[in-house]
Amino acid sequence: MRTDSAEPVRLKDYKAPDYLIDAVDLDVKLHATATRIVSRLSIRPNPHGRRDAALVLDGDGLNARRITLDGEAIDLDKALLSPDQLTLAAPPQRPFALEIETEIDPSANTRLMGLYRSGSAYCTQCEPEGFRRITYFLDRPDVLSVYTVRIEADRSEAPLLLSNGNLIEAGDLEGGKRHYAVWRDPFPKPSYLFALVGGDLGSVHDEFITKSGRKVALGIHVEHGKEPHAAYAMDALKRSMAWDETAFGREYDLDVFNIVAVSDFNMGAMENKGLNIFNDKYVLASPATATDADYAHIEAVIAHEYFHNWTGNRITCRDWFQLCLKEGLTVFRDHEFSSDMRSRAVHRIADVRALRAAQFPEDAGPLAHNVRPETYHEINNFYTATIYEKGAEVIRMLKVLIGEAAFARGMNLYFDRYDGTAATIEDFISCFAEAANRDLTAFSRWYHQSGTPLVEANGAYDAAARTFTLEFRQFSKPTPGQDHKEPFVIPIALGLVGRDGDLPLKVGAQNGASALEISRAVFELSAPSRKITFLDVPSRPVPSLLRGFSAPVRLDYPASEADLITLIAHDSDSFNRWQAAQTYASRLLLRSVANIRAGGEARHDQGFIDALGVVLNKSSDPAYTAQMITLPSEADIARDMGEDVDPDAIHAARDALRQAIGKSLAAGLLSAYARHAENGPYSPDAEAAGRRALRNAALDLYCAGEPVEGARLAARQFEAADTMTNEIAALGALAQRAGSLREGALDTFYRRHAAEALVIDKWFALQAMIPETDTLERIQKLMRHAAFSLQNPNRVRSLIGAFATGNQTRFNAPDGSGYDFVAGVVLDLDQKNPQVAARLLAAFKSWRSLEAKRRGLAEAALRRIAAEGALSADVKDIVERSLG
Ligand code: PHE
Ligand code: ZN
Repeated sequence: MRTDSAEPVRLKDYKAPDYLIDAVDLDVKLHATATRIVSRLSIRPNPHGRRDAALVLDGDGLNARRITLDGEAIDLDKALLSPDQLTLAAPPQRPFALEIETEIDPSANTRLMGLYRSGSAYCTQCEPEGFRRITYFLDRPDVLSVYTVRIEADRSEAPLLLSNGNLIEAGDLEGGKRHYAVWRDPFPKPSYLFALVGGDLGSVHDEFITKSGRKVALGIHVEHGKEPHAAYAMDALKRSMAWDETAFGREYDLDVFNIVAVSDFNMGAMENKGLNIFNDKYVLASPATATDADYAHIEAVIAHEYFHNWTGNRITCRDWFQLCLKEGLTVFRDHEFSSDMRSRAVHRIADVRALRAAQFPEDAGPLAHNVRPETYHEINNFYTATIYEKGAEVIRMLKVLIGEAAFARGMNLYFDRYDGTAATIEDFISCFAEAANRDLTAFSRWYHQSGTPLVEANGAYDAAARTFTLEFRQFSKPTPGQDHKEPFVIPIALGLVGRDGDLPLKVGAQNGASALEISRAVFELSAPSRKITFLDVPSRPVPSLLRGFSAPVRLDYPASEADLITLIAHDSDSFNRWQAAQTYASRLLLRSVANIRAGGEARHDQGFIDALGVVLNKSSDPAYTAQMITLPSEADIARDMGEDVDPDAIHAARDALRQAIGKSLAAGLLSAYARHAENGPYSPDAEAAGRRALRNAALDLYCAGEPVEGARLAARQFEAADTMTNEIAALGALAQRAGSLREGALDTFYRRHAAEALVIDKWFALQAMIPETDTLERIQKLMRHAAFSLQNPNRVRSLIGAFATGNQTRFNAPDGSGYDFVAGVVLDLDQKNPQVAARLLAAFKSWRSLEAKRRGLAEAALRRIAAEGALSADVKDIVERSLG
C-alpha cells in the first residue's frame, strides 16, 4: 500500500521530466501468483530537463530481481531500490538501455490496479498510476513511449493474448503447451494507456472500413457463452467509429480494435490504446437481462472509450491536473453522439438530471474542486463528476459562446497542433481563442474556480414604452480554499414567450446591453450584474431563461405559477418546458416540507396536477412525456433546500404529491399505460424505449395513487414481462409496498436470474433503496448472500452504493445507523480496495447541509473513520477533506 505523504502534489510544481523513455520492450510471462516481467527501457536525457539529474523511477509494492544498464548488472543496493522507487543517482548523459526484471502476484491484487485477475483472466488497469505496480517506470502522462509487448502463457489457461497496437508475431512453445504473442503499438503513449489481457474468453469479430478505406478488425471478448450479449456493443462501436469521422473528422489509426469485458473493474471502462478494457456491465446486453437505460449506457460508454482514441490517446494530458482535458472533452463528445443517436431533447434532460444529481452536490460541499484542480493528495479521488460532467458542460458553453463554426475550427486546430503531444487546458483554450479571435481569459475561470454560481434574474414590463427589461445578478459562495470569486462568463440562452409563442428579440443599446451581447439569442452575463432591455414587446411576456441549460448554474427567477404553466404549455424550448414543470413541483414540495416539519400536511395544488394531465394526454413524444411526469428526486429537493435538510420530511412530501397525482390522474395514467403497450418485436432503439419509459412512469404514479389496483397491474406486468425494462419496472412498482406480494416477486426475480450477476445487481440495488426502517437489516442479510462479495466493485456499488446514494431516508436514518453501517463497510473495504472504499465514502459529501441532529451523527461517523490508524491514502484524503 502506498504510504501517504502529507505534502500534496501541486500544479505549480510541474517540471518536465529529466529523462525520456523512447521505447519500452516488455516481456511478460503470465503466472497466477508469480508473473515475471522483463522491461527494457530506451532512455535518454530530456533536452528540456535538468542535466545530470538523478533518474527516479516510480514503483508501487515492487521488488526488482535484476537490473542492467547497457547490459551491465547494477548492484541492487546502489540502485537505491525500494518497493516504491528505483533511483540511479548518476545515470549516463546519453541514450542508454535499462533492463529491469520484476515479479508480481496478480492473484493477490485486490486493488484492481496494475495486473490482476478477474475470474480466470489476467487483465490490467494502469490509469492513473497502475503501471508502477507492474514495473519501475517514469509513470507520468508526459513520458510517451513506443511499446513492444511479448506475452507468454500456458495455452490452456490463456489462449487469448492481447496488448495494445497490432499483432506482429505469435507462436507455440513447448510443443503447444505454452504460446506467445508479440504486440507493437507504433503510437507513442504514456504508461497509463498500456494494457495487457490473457485468458480464455469467447470472441465476437467484425470489421470497420474507415473513410479512407482502411480495414479495421474489431473484436469483443467476453465470458464464454455471453457472445450473443456483445452484439449491441459491437453495433455501438461501429456507429461510434462512423460518427467520429463525420462529426469530428477523426479516423481510427490501427489495424485492430479490441474490447475486453471483465467482471471485476473499479470504474466503467478504460481507453487503453487499441485495447479497451470494460466493466462487463457496459458491454453485455440482451432484452431479457438489460434495461433500456443499460443499452443507452453501453452505447455511451463504448463511444466514450472509442472517442478517447483522439481525445486522450493521440493527444494526452501533460499531468493529472489536466484530467478534464481528456475527460470533459470526451464526455462532451459522447453526449453529442448519444444526442445524435437518440432524441436530443430527451438526452439533454437526462444529462442535466445527472449533472445536478452528482456534480451540484459535489460543488456545494467539502469535496468541491476546480474542473482543473491545482493540488491533490490522491489522484484516484479526482475521477469526479466535476472533472467529467462539469468539464463537459464548460466545453458545451464554449460552443454556445463562440458558435458552431468557430468551435469546429478550434477543434481542428487542437487536433492538428497537439497530435502526438501531452497537452494542457491552456493549449486547448488557445485554439478556440484563435479560431474565434476572442479573448477567453475570463471564460477560463470556469476551469479555475469551483462552486455552482447562482444567477438571480428579474423582469419588468413597461406597457407604455413596450419594453421588457431583464436584470441578472450572479453570486458565488466560497468553496474550499476559495473565498473570493471573480465573475463567471455565463451564456444565458433565452427567449420571450408571448401568447402565440416566441416573440422576436429586439434589443436597444441602452443600459450597456448591445445587440452583440444577445447574438444568437444568447446573453452573456460576464459581470456581477447586467441588464438588458427588449424593444417592441406588445404585452407582458414570460421569459424563458437558460434555454437548453446553457450554463451549469442555479437559476432563480420569480416566475408566477401562471408563468410556469404558460412555459409548460408553450415554451418552444423543450428543455425549459420540462424545467418549468420541475420548478413548479420543486416549489410545491419545498412548501410541503416546511408544512410537514411544522406539524402540518403536504400541500396540494390542482393547477399543477392538471397541467401534468394535459401533458400526459398530448404525449406525442413518449420519452419526453415520461421525463415531464417524473418528479424531482428526493435528492433534488434536498439540494434545492441547501441547508437544514430533513430527508424524512422530503420523503413524506414527495410521497404525498405522488399519491395526489396518481389519484387525480388515475384514468389518464391508465390510458397512457394501455396506449404504450409493446407494439412489435423488441427493439432497444430510442423510440421503442421511449414508449416503455412512459408506460412504466405511468405505472409508477398509478401505483402511488391506487395502490391496490396498481399492485395488481404491476403483478400482471411482472409475470408477463419478457424484457428486463418491463420486469424491473414492475418489480419496482411492487416494491413500493411492504408485504408478501413484494417478497414473493423478489424471490421469483432472484430465481429467474440467479445465473446473471449483472441482473442480481439490480435485485440488490432495488432492495437497498426501499425506504423502510428494516432495510438496513435486509442489506446486512444480503451481504451474507452467496451472490454478494465485498471483493467485487459492481456488487458493492449495487448493494452498499445504492443504499448510500439512493436511499435518502435510510442512509440518513435519524438514529445514525445508516452512517455507521456505511462507515463500517468503508473501513472493511479499505483493506481490499481503497479506491472503491473512497468512492463509497464520498456519499457523505452533503453532510453539512443536513439538519443539526443528523449532521452531528454523520460527523461522528466521519470522525471515527478519521481516527483509524491504517487508512489508505484514498480514504484518508476523502475523510480529511470531508471534515475540513
Ligand atoms: N479513463 C477512464 C474513462 O473515463 C476511466 C478510468 C479511470 C478507468 C481510472 C479506470 C481507472 O474512460
Ligand atoms: Zn474517459
